[in-house]
Amino acid sequence: MELDVDLIVLSFAAMKTGNIDYSAQLIRTKTRYLVNDTYNHLWIRKYGIQTNRPMQVEEMVVEADSKAYAQPYMTVWFRNIDRLLAKLPEPEEEYDFIDIGCGRGVAALYVAQNYNFRSVAGFDFESSLIADAYRNQEAMAKLTDIDFFVADASIYILPDGKHVLFMFNPFDAPVMKSFMDNNIEALRRNKSVIAYANHHQLDVIKSFEPASVTMIKDYRCALISF
Ligand SMILES: C[S@@+](CC[C@H](N)C(=O)[O-])C[C@H]1O[C@@H](n2cnc3c(N)ncnc32)[C@H](O)[C@@H]1O
Repeated sequence: MELDVDLIVLSFAAMKTGNIDYSAQLIRTKTRYLVNDTYNHLWIRKYGIQTNRPMQVEEMVVEADSKAYAQPYMTVWFRNIDRLLAKLPEPEEEYDFIDIGCGRGVAALYVAQNYNFRSVAGFDFESSLIADAYRNQEAMAKLTDIDFFVADASIYILPDGKHVLFMFNPFDAPVMKSFMDNNIEALRRNKSVIAYANHHQLDVIKSFEPASVTMIKDYRCALISF
C-alpha cells in the first residue's frame, strides 16, 4: 500500500514542479497523515467511542509536581502500535501490556481488541481521563477485563511480571528519569520492553543501557528491550 502511494506521489511531483524531491517528501508526509488518521477514525467510529478529542495539560485537574512535565492527551496512531508490536522479541501472550499515560484508554482498547496479551491495563494521572476510559470501555462491552486506574508515573512501581510498556510521548525527561530509576531493575529482571511512539525522551531511556533498541524509520517509534 505505502509503495503504491509513493509511486503516485513521485509521479505527481515530477509533473507539477521542478523540485521533485521536496514535493515528493511533502506529499508523502501528508499522505501518511491521511492514511493513519483515517485508520484511527474508522476504528473509533466502528466501536462508538465518543471521547477522542485532545485535552491540554492546562485543562487537567490533577495536582502533582509531575504535571509540569506532562504532555497533553491525544490518541496515538493505532498503526504505530501495530508497527511497534510487530517487533516484539517474544510472543504477545507472554507479556502483560500497560499503557503508561493511557488518557481516555482508546489505545489500550485497540490493543485488547486486536492482540492476545496476558493482560491489558492503562493508567493516567488525570482522573477525568480515566473516567472517560471507563465510559469507552462500556461502549466496547466485551472488553471488561482491561484494568484502568489513576496513577502518577513519576512514583509508580511496576507489578512484578514481563511487560510491554506502551508510551505515546506521555511526559518529559524528569518524569521519564524517575520512572526509569524506580523500575529499571524490574524491567531488566523480567526482560520487559518499552514500545515508545513519538520517542522524545529516548536518550533518557538509552542512558539506562537497554539490551537493544529497534528504531522504526519514518514514524519516530522505538522498541526498547531490557
Ligand atoms: C499523548 S497522551 C497518550 C495517550 C494514550 N497513551 C494514547 O496513546 O492514545 C499522554 C498522556 O500521558 C498522561 N500523563 C502525563 N504525565 C503523566 C504522569 N506523570 N503519570 C501518568 N500519566 C501522565 C497525560 O495525562 C496524557 O493523557
